[in-house]
Amino acid sequence: MKNVLAYILFLFFIIALYGAAFASAGEESPGKKVFVASKCGTCHAVQSAKLETKSKKPAPDLSTIGSVKNADFLKKYLVKQEKMEGKAHPVSFKGPDEDLKKLADWLGTLKSAKK
Ligand code: HEC
Repeated sequence: MKNVLAYILFLFFIIALYGAAFASAGEESPGKKVFVASKCGTCHAVQSAKLETKSKKPAPDLSTIGSVKNADFLKKYLVKQEKMEGKAHPVSFKGPDEDLKKLADWLGTLKSAKK
């Protein structure tokens, strides 16, 4: 009987860990911070992450970019080593590699227009 109880407690512990991981993936995502700090938002909105843009230029909303391209591709695209539909991104990412990785990883998770 004691073993069963321990097992159930263990299960709850695992579920709680998962819950914490998902909760922190929201607002505090490091890639989102890089996005904001790098001023990507001067041209792009990411409605799924509640980021609006004041830009009048026709830069695409990035809410679902992760369902089209993966993080690896985006990492290269943002430093003009890859093209989309024959076109390179208009600006090249200037920050450190570390930030580029965080940014691309975050963009890769954006798969749904709803949050
Ligand atoms: C000066 C305006 C501007 C800035 C700043 C900018 N972008 Fe873009 N971005 C664009 C435009 C315009 C396009 C569309 C290019 C095309 O159609 O070939 C684009 C395309 C993209 C795409 C591909 C979207 C798609 O669905 O085709 C991604 C991803 C992207 N940008 C990410 C970023 C990130 C991340 C940053 C910040 C590091 C950033 N952009 C900063 C103007 C900008």
